Amino acid sequence: MKEWLKNRELMKSHFDSKSFADEESDQNMGVKPPAVEIETPDNATVIPLPEPGLVPAKSDISRCILERRSRRKYTDEVISIEELSYMLWATQGVKKAIPAYGNTGTVTIRTVPSAGARHPFETYLAVNHVTGIEQGIYRYSSLNHNLVFLFNVTEVQDKLTKAAVGQSFVGSAPVVFFWACKPYLGEWRYKGESHKAMLLDAGHVCQNLYLAAESLSLGTVAIAAYSQERVDDLLKLDGKDEFVVYLAPVGRIENS
Ligand SMILES: Cc1cc2nc3c(=O)[nH]c(=O)nc-3n(C[C@H](O)[C@H](O)[C@H](O)COP(=O)(O)O)c2cc1C
Repeated sequence: MKEWLKNRELMKSHFDSKSFADEESDQNMGVKPPAVEIETPDNATVIPLPEPGLVPAKSDISRCILERRSRRKYTDEVISIEELSYMLWATQGVKKAIPAYGNTGTVTIRTVPSAGARHPFETYLAVNHVTGIEQGIYRYSSLNHNLVFLFNVTEVQDKLTKAAVGQSFVGSAPVVFFWACKPYLGEWRYKGESHKAMLLDAGHVCQNLYLAAESLSLGTVAIAAYSQERVDDLLKLDGKDEFVVYLAPVGRIENS
């Protein structure tokens, strides 16, 4: 049997009637739940984002669905901070943060669905050309709807292109979204059953980016062809408890 055929198992559901009552899950063993998101250090440089109440250029959802397509050609024009704020909200925005059952932490209800509302992602941005935001690598705090500056990267365009296995429109985009999965957020409740669900969750996030971008007459494309090592290195992720599962450049498109 070809070695890679065993990956098909990940595509199947491993839930059964006992999954939810599984005494061996960390949740059922009384282990404290992992934090909803990485805590922002007190000394961090934080960029507040405008309220995401921007009225999109095309507000008709059926038109956005119809006209959505993968767009890989962007103009040199900047993206505004309002547009960025709207896309961050559309992809991971928190509508409600409520106490979890038995007061064991916080559950977030967001603009996207997620199995068990685990929302196992952090959003990172490589900002290249956004009004009011310096170039650099940022983390989106969805609980606070702000950006946390992390660090600068030299020759970022070249590194992004190489990280996206030569797809140069990733390197030259005004901004690139990265979704990093923290698998323990899902595993804490669903153990091995969580892995398929977390990948499905990522699809919903990126689809909302497609539709939000379309409504602003911006363009994006889902990227799953990337070098795991280069992308994780670029964002300084450990590649074990947190690693990128999906990314997407965003830019302005001709005739918008
Ligand atoms: C999971 C996934 C991974 C993808 N990865 C890439 C990629 O690495 N590079 C790329 O140019 N397009 C990528 N795409 C975009 C597809 O090529 C595109 O959706 C497809 O050709 C259909 O075109 P449309 O999105 O315009 O309808 C990806 C799409 C999905 C859903």
